[in-house]
Amino acid sequence: MKNFHILLTIVLLFISCSKRYPKIVYMPDMYYSEAYEPYSDAIKPYKKNNNIILFKNRITSLIPVPGTVPRNENGFLPYMLPNTKEGYEASKKITISPMDPNKKIVNLKRGKEMYIIYCAICHNNDGNGEGYLVKKEKILGVPNYKYLNLTIGSIYHVIMYGKNNMGSYASQLNTEDRWKIALYVKELQKNK
Ligand code: HEC
Repeated sequence: MKNFHILLTIVLLFISCSKRYPKIVYMPDMYYSEAYEPYSDAIKPYKKNNNIILFKNRITSLIPVPGTVPRNENGFLPYMLPNTKEGYEASKKITISPMDPNKKIVNLKRGKEMYIIYCAICHNNDGNGEGYLVKKEKILGVPNYKYLNLTIGSIYHVIMYGKNNMGSYASQLNTEDRWKIALYVKELQKNK
């Protein structure tokens, strides 16, 4: 009798350990998740009561409606003008920033901070075009803002796409910061 107990225990132990994928499960939804990763291609349609719960083309999430504009905490705003001569000319007609005019003081402060970091190395702190890299003769043709006919829109356009020797800053500055810097450059022009 005692031996039988030991034998039974050993057998039970083996049974319980050896089956990685048990044949009988009580809550299959919990063992085998039917969820797909968002936007993944659904290889096996997910069926429930014989209804396929998936969108068209086997995608697992709805894609945004055409014309949808992404907005996130980085303050993305759409900018429709293309990187062409016409786009640049059109940008000259933008004289109003989309930023909240009531926040001008804080926006200018932020614009200045970003300008000093990204632009002053060429354009100099006061915008006279005599920045460090110019003095070291590493770059040529940096203009003095004073002599240029700039609008807030054209400054934004140049930060966004660059111009000749000046590269684009779109990958380094988010939309809001670009408008804030443009506001600050306008302010620098005023001081002249
Ligand atoms: C590596 C040097 C360099 C840096 C950094 C730089 N620029 Fe420029 N920038 C130039 C040069 C060169 C030009 C002249 C482009 C031309 O007209 O050929 C220019 C021109 C401009 C103009 C005049 C564009 C026009 O419409 O004629 C503006 C405005 C301007 N930069 C703003 C900025 C701002 C804002 C930043 C910072 C985000 C910046 N730049 C950073 C080199 C630089």
